[in-house]
Amino acid sequence: MAERQSGAATVEPADASGAPGYTFHDHAPAPDNFREAVLHGLAQAHKAIPFRFLYDAAGSRLFEQICQQPEYYLTRTELALLENHAGDIAARVGPGAQLVELGSGAGIKVERLLAALTEPTAYIAVEISRPALVAAVQRLAADWPALDIHAVWADYASGFSLPLAKTQANAQAKAGPVLGFFPGSSIGNLRPAQAQSLLATWRQRLGAGAHLVIGVDLIKAPAVLEAAYNDAAGITAAFTGNLLVRANRELGADFDLDGFEHEARYLPGRAAIQINLVSRCAQQVTVSGRRFQFAAGERLHVEDSHKYSIDNFRSLADSAGWQALDVWTDANELFSVHHLRVRG
Ligand code: TRP
Repeated sequence: MAERQSGAATVEPADASGAPGYTFHDHAPAPDNFREAVLHGLAQAHKAIPFRFLYDAAGSRLFEQICQQPEYYLTRTELALLENHAGDIAARVGPGAQLVELGSGAGIKVERLLAALTEPTAYIAVEISRPALVAAVQRLAADWPALDIHAVWADYASGFSLPLAKTQANAQAKAGPVLGFFPGSSIGNLRPAQAQSLLATWRQRLGAGAHLVIGVDLIKAPAVLEAAYNDAAGITAAFTGNLLVRANRELGADFDLDGFEHEARYLPGRAAIQINLVSRCAQQVTVSGRRFQFAAGERLHVEDSHKYSIDNFRSLADSAGWQALDVWTDANELFSVHHLRVRG
């Protein structure tokens, strides 16, 4: 069996002149993972497919559209907070930052930080969707020629090492403080205990003295939350339904797309929006030759999006070894952006 070149780094030219645009690092999940995850997830008493599989090329495009829906207040509120406070963040981090983004998507939000930071030296994008990653770093490489740009194709929750310059050894290259950036309230897609361990893992990975700027959605009226995850235009429904489209295409599954309904419900006990695909009738689905029965009304769990109070999130960060410094929120307290620093 051919060995995967995991971790291999290749330099990609930005244009015909041959100038290096960015370095590509392949830490992609093994291609068979989707099949295994679907077969395993459908065999559970409570059927589920892990949310990281939502973000194929089509899923990433749909997610960008979700971010523009009027009900989905998260993206525009966070962008406004970043715009208003990028200067504060830059002042706290100082010059020469090496910026590391977890789940860089289309790479829009990071531009707010890059524009405000004093002579940032590197941008390291970690993203699971290869097409989204490549498109974002190509654009950024053209706009920020002085930046050392790295595209890391990886699931940010998996194990891999970052191409960080050693701050001291590279005094020549002016490599400065490490600034992690984790926007979009993606931390909320993990259960609190998993969120704590991800924050602890990234504290190690970003290293002593590192900063982290993280966006966290706040607890609010259930109707507002439920609308954000079930927009009137049906984009979020198409986004979750794309999981079945993907299974049909990649795994030869026979999901009937009209047989499942998108559901977003707020569970106050867990402070989470739960997203499911609900079977509209009793039906059978075949995936890779294996048959699975769905009862009418049975749920296929896709994702939870946990919401926090400012204080709850600060203590979660604290329990993962981060000192919670500033927190910025909008006038309606819809969303929060936290500045954390590795405690040391
Ligand atoms: N991180 C986003 C969130 O929790 C992801 C997301 C938005 C999402 N809408 C969704 C995930 C719908 C699954 C289904 O807000």
